[in-house]
Amino acid sequence: MSSPSPGQIPQHVAIIMDGNGRWAKQRGLPRLEGHRRGVETVRTVVDAAREIGIRTITLYAFSVENWKRPPEEVSGLMGLLDYFLKRELNNLIKNRVRLLTIGRTEELPENVQRELNRVKEATKDFTEWTLVLALNYGSRTEVADAARDYAAAVQAGHEQLTDASWDSFSRYLYTGAAGIPDPDLLIRTSGELRISNFLMLQLAYAEMVFTPVAWPEFGKAELQAAVDEFARRERRFGQTTEQLKPARA
Ligand code: IPE
Ligand code: IPE
Ligand code: MG
Repeated sequence: MSSPSPGQIPQHVAIIMDGNGRWAKQRGLPRLEGHRRGVETVRTVVDAAREIGIRTITLYAFSVENWKRPPEEVSGLMGLLDYFLKRELNNLIKNRVRLLTIGRTEELPENVQRELNRVKEATKDFTEWTLVLALNYGSRTEVADAARDYAAAVQAGHEQLTDASWDSFSRYLYTGAAGIPDPDLLIRTSGELRISNFLMLQLAYAEMVFTPVAWPEFGKAELQAAVDEFARRERRFGQTTEQLKPARA
């Protein structure tokens, strides 16, 4: 099958990286080994996204609910995050990829916050490629934080209640504040068919692709397959097919 034309390449792909634990368990390995392999997939997929021409990629790396996991798994994940940031700094600079985060990063361990700030600072001027890590992220928390900030802006006279609209409110979401566009395509690996509190408002019109492949096994071919599937879909945004193709109707 031919590759989609550039117009059909999603500008922003969001991924729920799932299945590290099950991948490890099936092989008789500790869950953390699955997460270690998952980190390797992150490098592969960030490189593949650039090769395909996907400008922004958002990876769900740690949810607000993931703190409920066993403490040794949580600290293992934080250790891997620290390792990933240290290891990828030079690679991100070389490839001109900007790092952004969404989520309550101020609640992450201090060493992780330090590395995040270092990498963000070192890559902040890159505009072509963006990697967004969702860390201590949850949609409901994001909406609560946005409502708080919006209310404060109204109190301070920076926003008028009479102007309340999606355009004005969405600027207070983590994504809106950082200038991150809505995802065009959502991918979830490892067979689960749910959103798990990820970008619930921003995914309003995203195409969704669910694959049974576990995150440690996901690679460029799987990403390309999801992009090809995206290219076959018709995004109507509430309109009719005829309206979308008036010349051919
Ligand atoms: C995804 O893999 C990684 C994180 C949530 C951090 P999981 O750890 O959820 O793997 P499964 O779903 O238990 O297999
Ligand atoms: C979603 O995966 C969170 C991340 C990928 C970071 P989970 O594995 O935590 O989701 P549930 O618990 O299966 O819904
Ligand atoms: Mg999971």
